[in-house]
Amino acid sequence: CGIVGYIGNQDSKEVLLKGLEKLEYRGYDSAGIALMSGDGVQVFKEKGRIADLRNVVDYDLLANTGIGHTRWATHGVPSQTNAHPHKSNSGRFTLVHNGVIENYELIQNEFLMDVPLMSDTDTEIIVQLVELFVNKGIDVEKAFCQTLELLKGSYAIALMDEQNPDIIYVAKNKSPLLVGIGEDFNVVASDALAMLQVTDQFVEIMDKEIVIVKKNEVTIKTLAGEVIERNPYRAELDASDIEKGTYPHFMLKEIDEQPLVLRKIIQKYRSEKGELEIDQEIVKAVNESDRIYIIAAGTSYHAGLVGKQFIEKLAAVPVEVHIASEFGYNMPLLSAKPLFIFISQSGETADSRAVLVQIKELGHKALTITNVPGSTLSREADFTLLLHAGPEIAVASTKAYTAQLAVLSILAEVVARSKGKEIGFDLSRELGIAANAMEILCDSKEEFEKMAHEYVSTTRNAFFIGRGVDYYVCLEGSLKLKEISYIQAEGFAGGELKHGTIALIEDGTPIIALATQESVNLSIRGNVKEVVARGANPCIISMKGLEMADDRFVIPEVHELLTPLISVIPMQLFAYYAALHRNCDVDKPRNLAKSVTVE
Ligand code: G6P
Repeated sequence: CGIVGYIGNQDSKEVLLKGLEKLEYRGYDSAGIALMSGDGVQVFKEKGRIADLRNVVDYDLLANTGIGHTRWATHGVPSQTNAHPHKSNSGRFTLVHNGVIENYELIQNEFLMDVPLMSDTDTEIIVQLVELFVNKGIDVEKAFCQTLELLKGSYAIALMDEQNPDIIYVAKNKSPLLVGIGEDFNVVASDALAMLQVTDQFVEIMDKEIVIVKKNEVTIKTLAGEVIERNPYRAELDASDIEKGTYPHFMLKEIDEQPLVLRKIIQKYRSEKGELEIDQEIVKAVNESDRIYIIAAGTSYHAGLVGKQFIEKLAAVPVEVHIASEFGYNMPLLSAKPLFIFISQSGETADSRAVLVQIKELGHKALTITNVPGSTLSREADFTLLLHAGPEIAVASTKAYTAQLAVLSILAEVVARSKGKEIGFDLSRELGIAANAMEILCDSKEEFEKMAHEYVSTTRNAFFIGRGVDYYVCLEGSLKLKEISYIQAEGFAGGELKHGTIALIEDGTPIIALATQESVNLSIRGNVKEVVARGANPCIISMKGLEMADDRFVIPEVHELLTPLISVIPMQLFAYYAALHRNCDVDKPRNLAKSVTVE
C-alpha cells in the first residue's frame, strides 16, 4: 500500500491524487482520500484504481489539508468499505495506514469490545483506539503515541483530527515513510516519487518516531516525546524518470532501458584506472566470510540464483540462495562466518527485511544490493551496492533484474581479483558486448511480438525449460509470463520434466526452451524432443554458435557466464506481447504490487 498527505495553502486534491497515481505500484485494488475543509473531513473512496477514485471525488470541494491511500489488501477483501481512509466512530479522526497490525484482534478484544467497527481491516482499530484514548481525556498527540505503543507489526500512518485541522500526525514502524518539505506546505509519502511533483526535499522518518506535520513546521519526536533534529536531503530523482514518455507502457520502456543501464553500471563501478571496483570494505567482508547467503523474493530471488553461479565460479566462495519468506522460520544451519546478501529492487520487501532483522540480532554482517538508495534494507544493512537502474515503475521487474546480474558479476570479479584469482576474461569488456547484444534484442520487438502471438495468444499454460543457468532464466521467464498475462507458466530444469511434469504436455502445449550453454546444448535438445513426441509446440531460443535448424530465435553471442543478461530479454518481450494480446493491464497486473511491505 502507499500513503500520501498534504498540508499547506493550496488545494490538496490534485497533489494527493497525483501522488497516489505515482504510488500505484505499491498496490491498486482500492484507493481513497480524505479532505479537511471548513466543514470537517470528507472521505472519498472506491474499489479499483486511482482512476476510479477520481470519478467519485467532489472536485468543487476545496481543502488545504488531506491524506490518501492506495491499497494492496491484506486483511479484508478489496472493497469500498475496506478502502482507506478510515474514520473513528464520532467522525473526528481520519487515518490511512500501510502495513499489517499483527495484534489487531487482541487490541480489539482488550480495548474495543464496545466499539462497533465498520470494516474488516486491521487498520480501523488504530483510529478507534486514538478516539477511545482522547475520549478518556488524553490529548491527541499522547493518545496517538499511546496507541502506537500498543501496536505490533508494521505501519506507516497519517492521521487527521477535525479539531486540530492544522496538523497531520504521522508515524512509522518498518513500513517506509518520508516527509517532504515545501514552501508554505509540507507533504507525506511512502516514497519520494509520489511528491517529486511538488518538492525534492525530504526528511527520513525512523521507526517508532512520530511527526507533527504543519504547513510551516515539521517536528519529529520519539514516542516518549523527545524532539529529534534531522535535516532534509535532496531526492536525486528526475521527474522525467518516472514518466512513460512516448512508450505505451512502463514495462516496454524499462526493457528498452536495459543496455543503457548496463553501460551505466560498468561506468559507475569502474575506477579511473579502468578496473572494476567496489568498496574495499565489502570485498573484505566477503573475503572474511566462509559462505554467502543470498536472501531475496520474486525476480530478485531469480537474480540471486544466477548470482550464485557468478560468485562460485569466479570467486570460489560457496553461496546459498534462499527465499526470504522461508528463511525466517526455516533457517538452515549457518556456517561459522556467514555473510548475507539481500537482493531487492525496492529495498523495502518486508519478507527480506524480517530476515535482515533476524540475522542482525545474531550479529551477522549484511550487504544490500538495491535500486533505491536510502531504502530500509539499504539503511539497515552494513553495506549497500546500488543498481543505478533508475526508477522501475512497471510491477513486473525487468531492468532491475539485469542490473542485479551485472552488479553481482562485478562483485564476483572484484572478489576474485582480490584473491589473486585469474578469471580469464575482461568482465567490463564482456558486459559491454552484452549491452550491445541487448540492444539488438530490443530492436527485434516485432519478432517477439510474432512469437507471442504464435505460441501463447490462446494457450492456457506454457512451460519454460533449460539446464544450468538457462534453468534460472526460465524461472524468471515463466514468472514474467504468468504475472502479466495470467497464463499458467512454469520454469523447469530440462532433465526434471520427465519426472512428473511431462504429464501435463498435451497437443499444442507451448514449450519455450533455452539453449545458451554449450555443455548442455545437446541434452536440452533431447528434452525438447521428449515433449515434441508428446505433442508439444516447441520454441527454441538458442545462442549464436549453438543454433540448429529448427530454432525459433538465435540471440547474439556473449560470454557463456553472462548469457542470462541477454536470454531474459526475449522472455520479457514475449511476456509483454502475450499480455498485450490478451488485453491485460501490463504495468499493473491484477492482485500484485511492486513493493510488498507486508510479510
Ligand atoms: C513483488 C514484485 C516482484 C518482485 C518482488 C521482490 O512481489 O511484484 O516483481 O520481484 O516483490 O521485490 P524486491 O523489491 O525485493 O526486489
